[in-house]
Amino acid sequence: MSTLPLFDAFPALRGPIPHVALAALPTPIERLDALSSGTGANLYVKRDDLTSPVYGGNKVRKLEFLLGRAMHDGARTVLTFGAAGSNHALATALFARQLGLRSVSMLVPQPVAQSVRRNLLFGWKAGAELHHFESQLRVKLGVLHQMQRGLFRDGRFPNVIPPGGSSPVGTLGFVNAAFELAAQVASGLLPEPDLVFAASGTMGTVVGLMLGLQAAGLRTRVAAIRVTQPPYTSMQKARELFSATNALLHGADPAFPDLAFPEREFELRHDFIGPGYGRYTEASARAVRCGADLGLRLEGTYTGKAFAGFLDAAESGALRGKTAVFWDTYNSRDFAPEIAGADYHELPAPFHRYFEEAVQPLDSH
Ligand SMILES: Cc1ncc(COP(=O)(O)O)c(C=O)c1O
Repeated sequence: MSTLPLFDAFPALRGPIPHVALAALPTPIERLDALSSGTGANLYVKRDDLTSPVYGGNKVRKLEFLLGRAMHDGARTVLTFGAAGSNHALATALFARQLGLRSVSMLVPQPVAQSVRRNLLFGWKAGAELHHFESQLRVKLGVLHQMQRGLFRDGRFPNVIPPGGSSPVGTLGFVNAAFELAAQVASGLLPEPDLVFAASGTMGTVVGLMLGLQAAGLRTRVAAIRVTQPPYTSMQKARELFSATNALLHGADPAFPDLAFPEREFELRHDFIGPGYGRYTEASARAVRCGADLGLRLEGTYTGKAFAGFLDAAESGALRGKTAVFWDTYNSRDFAPEIAGADYHELPAPFHRYFEEAVQPLDSH
């Protein structure tokens, strides 16, 4: 199977849309046998935790297009944003380095968790330049400074990648992912799913999937489990990102259909975020444990909440007789060897608090 089924379906996209191969695709699709028989549903997991032996998870798919564009534009430095333990900022740093680009991460506070500590250490070890800001206003001022600095150092502005990589260009990674799923359906690996469940942080994942599923002719609906506050996740954001990404594709190849946002096929679920972004809930902690029993390595900020939504739907009987896919978006590669012996004191001082304050009580791993 090709790694770019989107380009196979619409070959004229190849010219105008830069792409750099970073991910190991297609990712496996696996049936969750025990959970299926216990709930009368036909349940699968899409193993995007395995997108890369460097660092898996959903971000690699977006970075194939984002860094493809940055390289095409002759960038030397990429500038991106996230919460302190952002998987996106880490993945950007790791893959930018692989392509010989510098990376600068502009990070904001989040609740303390083990995964935040690990990601900060890994990013630092990978040579990412990390900055911590207490407010969005300070981030904006920081961006002005980085722009000036980029111009002075590289003779050009840094390539700016928005939070979570969810620009229309980044979202293409998940349009392609939907075509990949469609190819797996066509090859008989699973029946056409009724529903796909995924975490919604900055929406590139769920919106890209929705757009790609429609364009590939599947009737599959998307259940987006909200894990962030508006404006990062909202129906309005979904509509805007869908239409901007669609316009990008249709503009690059008029054969790509011009689609209306499918209001009835896209469902935003608000019941699993709990007290807020990065705050673990009882349901997400249980889902993380349940995932571990099934051989999945989840965490409490994104995939624990999304899997809690998936489990809730399955256990309530809502998926009985249906086919549903849980999209596992979190890296499962153990990078403990890379950060063994790393000393957090080497990080800029504002990050020390993530190592000195206790992790939240529901964070057991
Ligand atoms: C592990 C994980 N899952 C899901 C998401 C959500 O993806 P998106 O930002 O595309 O909504 C993110 C990032 O934000 C993530 O790091």
